[in-house]
Amino acid sequence: MGLVLGSGLGAVRQCITDPLDLPFSEIPGLPQSTVQGHGGFLRAGRIKGRPVLALCGRVHLYEGHSAAEACLPIRVLGCLGVRTLILTNAAGALNPLFSAGTLMCITDHINLTGQNPLTGPNDESWGPRFPDMSRAWCPELAALAQAQARAQGLVLERGVYIQVSGPCLETPAETRAYRQMGADAIGMSTAIEAIAARHMGMRVLGVSCLTNKNLPDCMAETSHQSVLDMADQAAENLARLLASVVGELPGEAGAG
Ligand code: HPA
Repeated sequence: MGLVLGSGLGAVRQCITDPLDLPFSEIPGLPQSTVQGHGGFLRAGRIKGRPVLALCGRVHLYEGHSAAEACLPIRVLGCLGVRTLILTNAAGALNPLFSAGTLMCITDHINLTGQNPLTGPNDESWGPRFPDMSRAWCPELAALAQAQARAQGLVLERGVYIQVSGPCLETPAETRAYRQMGADAIGMSTAIEAIAARHMGMRVLGVSCLTNKNLPDCMAETSHQSVLDMADQAAENLARLLASVVGELPGEAGAG
C-alpha cells in the first residue's frame, strides 16, 4: 500500500517501522518539493506489519509543475505495485459545521485546477484513456476509516474536497462560490493525485486535516505557518487513525 503525507503531517511517518528512506533527488525524473514543511523523500517500511511506501512531501502545481509532473510520484507507486493508496493533506474547511483541527474523510472531489494529470498521450499499460470517476474515492475504505475513527472516539467528518491551483488563499467571494458548488474542504494538492491513482486502478482513501475554517461572511486571515502548526497538532490523531485503518485493510481483491 502507498501513503502520501501532506503539509505539516510529517509526524505521521513516525508510525512507519523499519524505515528506509530514499530522497526524491535520487529517483530519476522525480520533481523535488521546494516548500517549507514538505520533506521530499520516499520512505519504505511497515505499518502494523504491512509493507508501505510513503511519499513524504509532494510537489504542487503552484511551484510551476504540470499536473502530470506533480503526479509522477503517484505513478511511481503504481508501477512499484501499490494497489491501495491513502492520500492525506492539510485543507481549509468550507463547511461551516466543521471545526479546525478535525479530520475529514474525502468522499468525492472537484478538480478546479484547470489541469489534469492525464492530459497528453495515454499509456494504455497504465490505464484507460477515459477512466471512470463515479467512485473515485473508495466507499469501502471510507467506511473502514469511519468505523476505526468511531472505535477510537475520533471525530471524522465526511465531505467533498475541492482542489484549486493556489498558491494564494481564497477571497470571500471565491469561498462562497466553492461552498455553493458543494465543496466541504479546499486544498491545493489531492484531486489530481486521486485522478492519477484511479487511472492506474488503485483504491483510494483520502483524509484531510482541516487546518483552518473559511467562512465568507467573516473571513479570517490564514498563514502558511498557521496551517502547518494546526496540521502538526492534528497529526497525532491522523497517525492513530491511519495505523488502525492499515491494520484492518482487506486484501487487494477489490482493487480496480
Ligand atoms: N485554502 C486552500 N488550501 C489550503 C487551505 C485553504 O484555506 N488550508 C490549507 N490548505
